Amino acid sequence: MATVLYIEASPLKERSHTIEVARAFLGAYREARPQDTIETIDLWAQALPPFDGATIEAKFAVLRKKEFTPLQQEKWDAVRAVARRFNAADKYVLSVPMWNFSVPYPLKHYIDVVTLAGENWTWSTWGLMRPWVTVEPSSPEPKLLTPIARANPSSYARSSASHCTSAAAVGQ
Ligand SMILES: Cc1cc2nc3c(=O)[nH]c(=O)nc-3n(C[C@H](O)[C@H](O)[C@H](O)COP(=O)(O)O)c2cc1C
Repeated sequence: MATVLYIEASPLKERSHTIEVARAFLGAYREARPQDTIETIDLWAQALPPFDGATIEAKFAVLRKKEFTPLQQEKWDAVRAVARRFNAADKYVLSVPMWNFSVPYPLKHYIDVVTLAGENWTWSTWGLMRPWVTVEPSSPEPKLLTPIARANPSSYARSSASHCTSAAAVGQ
């Protein structure tokens, strides 16, 4: 049984094209895999913690293996709760409109909040970023995010770019 996290980035709801595509996909997915759980994050309904100066200081403290100040601890707890929900999913579906050749700003905010040192990436032995999830857009079956920390913790992630227009499909 897998958990699918559906992340919705359009504010237009019933008028949204990307949400319509995502709903069609999720409906078919539910029929194909009724044993799986689908969770939804509406980025326009969920208040995200700000990724502000104190949160960035907390991130540096993690990277430098330093103690948090009480404020940094509070900030880190807030972003880590969001990141852990993201990391706990097995598969991801995103419905994403194009806004000014990019994504709607709440999605960028979400990406900044969930991309946390020590939670889903760390430094490799060469000092490079080593992600624990990777994007695999091209496979015989539609496949997006593979949680490689669980699948193969000792291998270095392949990093591959992906375009994500409207609804994107999920893994395995
Ligand atoms: C603020 C904003 C910026 C947009 N920027 C672009 C753009 O850069 N390129 C494009 O092709 N369409 C752009 N569009 C059009 C949307 O991508 C299009 O309306 C899409 O259907 C929106 O998805 P939705 O219906 O799921 O909300 C923009 C729409 C909005 C509201």
